[in-house]
Amino acid sequence: MAEYYEWFRALHLISVLAWAMGLMMVPRFFAYQTEAVPGGDVDLLMQKATDRLMKIILAPAMIAAWIFGLATLTARFSASPPPAWLLVKLGLAALLTGFHFYLVGTRKKLVRGERPHSGRFWRMLNEIPFLVMIAIIILAVLEPF
Ligand code: HEM
Repeated sequence: MAEYYEWFRALHLISVLAWAMGLMMVPRFFAYQTEAVPGGDVDLLMQKATDRLMKIILAPAMIAAWIFGLATLTARFSASPPPAWLLVKLGLAALLTGFHFYLVGTRKKLVRGERPHSGRFWRMLNEIPFLVMIAIIILAVLEPF
């Protein structure tokens, strides 16, 4: 396992990059969809774009980020307990996973024609994954505690 550590780390970073991109794009699509007429051209276009983004990028990238993240963890920390910064990082990754499933649930509501929040709400929500990822990267690179 340890001999693949660098590969696991590289694949982890590639998958979190794709996951991050998707998590930031979907709320923006929701904003456009919320402001569109239900059943109109823009609504249908955004539904299709969100569906494809979730199936082709978001879901596989999230699964790969977890698999390669846990593989990196096992390769590096098999002989010692994981440090505190890593536990906090895992907590933040779990938060992002919750955010991911919140978006999946909301997509279904929007497809049904419901508009649970305003376009402004979705534009602001778009910043949350970015802020959480800033914290994750600082923890992972500085390993402060
Ligand atoms: C999904 C669950 C996740 C798990 C299980 C996980 C696990 C890990 C582990 C064990 C390391 C330490 C690797 C090393 O030795 O440096 C690491 C590094 C890292 N992770 Fe994650 N991680 C996850 C999610 C994320 C997310 C969402 C991001 C995006 C911001 C991220 C970004 C990073 C970065 C930038 C590093 C530093 C790599 C380096 O220093 O070379 N991780 N991750």
